[in-house]
Amino acid sequence: MPMSTKKNYRIVTVPDPVLKQIAQPVDKVDDAIRTQMDGMLAVMYDAPGIGLAANQVGLLNRVFVMDLSSRTEEEEPNPICMVNPQILYESEEMSVMEEGCLSIPKQYAEVERPAIVRVKYIDYNGKDAELEAQGLLSHCIQHEMDHLNGMLFIDYLSTLKRNIMIKKVHKLKKQNLL
Ligand code: NI
Repeated sequence: MPMSTKKNYRIVTVPDPVLKQIAQPVDKVDDAIRTQMDGMLAVMYDAPGIGLAANQVGLLNRVFVMDLSSRTEEEEPNPICMVNPQILYESEEMSVMEEGCLSIPKQYAEVERPAIVRVKYIDYNGKDAELEAQGLLSHCIQHEMDHLNGMLFIDYLSTLKRNIMIKKVHKLKKQNLL
């Protein structure tokens, strides 16, 4: 991936209203969008996290980045950038996995989603691409696509559990623990 000037993005946390807004489609994957993706990958790796959507850095276009490779061993980074993603297929079979989110720091909960999804998107180079995913990758794609629609994983939980998590993040922020 070519290195371009990295923008210093800051990850926004709940209850920032940008996390509840719907991101708009991208017209064309150009250098500005690639610079955005490079910047998003940089803050995601730095966090560290495995996925980051545009809303989470205060931008409202349909872009997200992921990397599920382990960064503890001698494994090459494997960034995946998706622009204008669309679900083509989702399985009836469901999968439950624990999820977290860089915008809801240090909070985790089990979320049920379709086990397998096939998604079409525009890649980092502006080419049409498709990917079928299961397991963690499937959860991650669906979690990031939710972000672009103003939806968070805590929205799948009860109001009580959701409010407890938001309060905990608020408390961590007040104590400067984030
Ligand atoms: Ni998230």
